Amino acid sequence: MPERPYVIDRMISAKSIAARVEALAREITRYFEGTDKLVVVGLLRGSFVFIADLVREIDLPVEVDFLEASSYGDAMHSSREVRILKDLRGEIAGRDVLVVEDIIDTGFTLSHVLHLLQARGPARLKTCALLDKPSRREVPVRADWTGFEIPDEFVVGYGIDFAQRNRNLPYIGKVRFTEEA
Ligand code: IMP
Ligand code: MG
Repeated sequence: MPERPYVIDRMISAKSIAARVEALAREITRYFEGTDKLVVVGLLRGSFVFIADLVREIDLPVEVDFLEASSYGDAMHSSREVRILKDLRGEIAGRDVLVVEDIIDTGFTLSHVLHLLQARGPARLKTCALLDKPSRREVPVRADWTGFEIPDEFVVGYGIDFAQRNRNLPYIGKVRFTEEA
């Protein structure tokens, strides 16, 4: 439970997210056209809402798998150390893999996961991130498809949490503290 009181300012509406997800899925479908070996890999837990909407707009045969990596030392700052808490259930050698991430911040998580998965010999390894905060990057990594670039704000909603809360908001908002720390 976060201790400082805060409010959430609306940033990206559910409607804008839905339109963007549809457009991303169209591009992804076109890119992987003809494949019968696509595995969409969601990074838990933040991507669970995004991946659910995204796969329903992808017009290809698709399998879904999940991987959980932890990067957050505390609620708001990256620990820079990435641990795999839950690995994929399936093999990805020779498969087309699309990694789905909620948000790229420092880049430590995605870069670690991509190295790990690349070593397993996928046919193609691509990434789709709903949000990107390019100004925060410490490791040079970028997604092949990005939903929205956002400024350096701490955001919640549509699967994304602050200390495990607010994942259930249908829109994306930014956290604003109402009292000094
Ligand atoms: P990175 O390793 O610094 O790129 O961090 C990526 C992960 O940190 C994301 O998958 C999120 O889980 C978390 N994260 C980064 N920025 C935010 C934010 O603004 N709100 C909530 N979680 C965030
Ligand atoms: Mg995450």
